[in-house]
Amino acid sequence: MQFTVFRFDPEVDREPRYSTYQVPVGEGTTLLEALLWIVDNVDGSLSFRYACREAICGACAMFVNGKHRLACKTQIKDLRADEVVVHPLPHLPIIKDLVVDMSGFWEKYRAIRPYLIAEGLGERELYQSHADRQAIDEMLNCILCACCYSSCPMVWTNPKYLGPAALLKAYRFAGDTRDKGGLERLKLVAGEDGVWRCHTVFNCAEACPKDINITWSIQALKRKLARAAVGLRP
Ligand code: SF4
Ligand code: SF4
Ligand code: FES
Repeated sequence: MQFTVFRFDPEVDREPRYSTYQVPVGEGTTLLEALLWIVDNVDGSLSFRYACREAICGACAMFVNGKHRLACKTQIKDLRADEVVVHPLPHLPIIKDLVVDMSGFWEKYRAIRPYLIAEGLGERELYQSHADRQAIDEMLNCILCACCYSSCPMVWTNPKYLGPAALLKAYRFAGDTRDKGGLERLKLVAGEDGVWRCHTVFNCAEACPKDINITWSIQALKRKLARAAVGLRP
């Protein structure tokens, strides 16, 4: 099958270009396996990230046949296409070929304090009921692949906007009954570049390869902030 892959090496190329490869694919061949076949057999200079090969690490996110996908989770036959066209995650700076610069994404993730704020951490068990854990199950599935971030028009137009992944993680902790961050945590997402910048376009939820309803979490954060603003318990 024909694979057309975006190529750009800023140290050598003046313009981006495409390379075309004929790759043998069979039942169960994943996009990641096809890219590794290219590296092993045709062109060792092709660059991309991967680690776990099982949709857990989030490293292999890319834009394939017009959709955000994880290369390791994507079976070629499921694309139902005669050609596979592979781009890096759109709207992120390109380091080389399919490798993008994630530093802005990580900076915003760090800004929401992505850890439990609670006394006694590491000293005693912090009890959580089954039902309380279930309430944040979906958010815990996030693998920080940045597909949602890359798909969000507010991120494209306002580089300071925290973006869907960081906001989802903020709710993952604000909605965790063990977290005592309270208003201190909510303040981190309350500003002009936080939840109120989200225009509820739903691109992020559509792009997420783990089927997480990110927009729902952002709306839940807005509700918590609104309650806090009128003096109710968030
Ligand atoms: S919410 Fe989904 S798309 Fe966004 S970083 Fe997490 S797993 Fe990736
Ligand atoms: S719903 Fe909000 S975060 Fe998601 S893509 Fe739209 S503006 Fe971005
Ligand atoms: S290699 Fe880890 S998610 Fe694909």
